[in-house]
Amino acid sequence: MSQLSGKNALLTGATGGIGPHIARSLAANGINLLLSGRRADRLQDLSEDLRSEPVRIETATADLTRMDELRGLADNAVSALGRIDILINNAGLEEVVPYQRHEPDQIQAAVLTNVMAPFLLTRILLPAMLERGDGHIISIASMAGRLGMPFGSTYSGTKAALSEWGLSLWMELQDTGVKVTTICPGFVTDAGMFARKERDAPASIGSCTPEQVAEAVLKALHSDKPEILVNSMPVRPLMTLKSISPVAAATLGKKLGLVEFLRSLTKPPRDADTE
Ligand SMILES: NC(=O)c1ccc[n+]([C@@H]2O[C@H](COP(=O)([O-])OP(=O)(O)OC[C@H]3O[C@@H](n4cnc5c(N)ncnc54)[C@H](OP(=O)(O)O)[C@@H]3O)[C@@H](O)[C@H]2O)c1
Repeated sequence: MSQLSGKNALLTGATGGIGPHIARSLAANGINLLLSGRRADRLQDLSEDLRSEPVRIETATADLTRMDELRGLADNAVSALGRIDILINNAGLEEVVPYQRHEPDQIQAAVLTNVMAPFLLTRILLPAMLERGDGHIISIASMAGRLGMPFGSTYSGTKAALSEWGLSLWMELQDTGVKVTTICPGFVTDAGMFARKERDAPASIGSCTPEQVAEAVLKALHSDKPEILVNSMPVRPLMTLKSISPVAAATLGKKLGLVEFLRSLTKPPRDADTE
């Protein structure tokens, strides 16, 4: 997408840690926004915050685990902005917990939010993008979907699904004018789900900032990359190793302390729970 100014984007997860950083960066580049999340007060605060930018800012609350609200969100976005050129699937749900203690309704909510919502929002908005021969689907996945995440297996599985889906669509939509990019951050500092745990990422794995994730979104919009990895160096050799030998990568990850680090992020069990 060469000319970004005047484009319209739907951003999910705008109320969270990384979402506002993406929103600010898009607005600063002249992109009109439909901001979404469940918390209306946060949406209001963010749209006030962006008032000085010369772009249109609209908001719509929606619970992405509900099909009716998801469809309503897509309709609202199109009627508020006229058309959607860019969909940013940023909303996500993570829980770090031993799998036997992961509540089934939480597993379901993670699959609906992290996988089903991006799949369906894209399915709803793609036909109009194809008709115009112009559009970009950007999904915020995770390194957890590329390497495996002990104690975050549901999260990791949903992000792996998002990555493979994105790559499949990128191949399928070549030469249509619609681009697809999956962005994979590692541990993100300063804001968001990892920052709330108030722990430093292990040096052997590294971390990135929410600003770097927002920069990756802009980079995606200026290119036709199927995937952008956002992280400091240490994790990259591990990812190369994973593509050659998943067992060797998992063994090295364990040696680097990944399992113990993630175990330390789990909440203690309630008395009635069994480990
Ligand atoms: N932070 C990290 O370290 C990190 C690393 C790699 C990838 N990521 C990915 O980056 C994205 C943003 O993460 P974050 O750290 O900013 O997360 P966050 O602070 O927990 O925010 C999550 C966002 O998702 C929205 N959301 C969650 N469940 C929803 C639902 N059922 N319906 C509608 N919206 C829902 C939340 O909005 P409401 O609560 O208002 O609904 C919020 O805006 C996620 O996809 C995450 O997996 C994050």
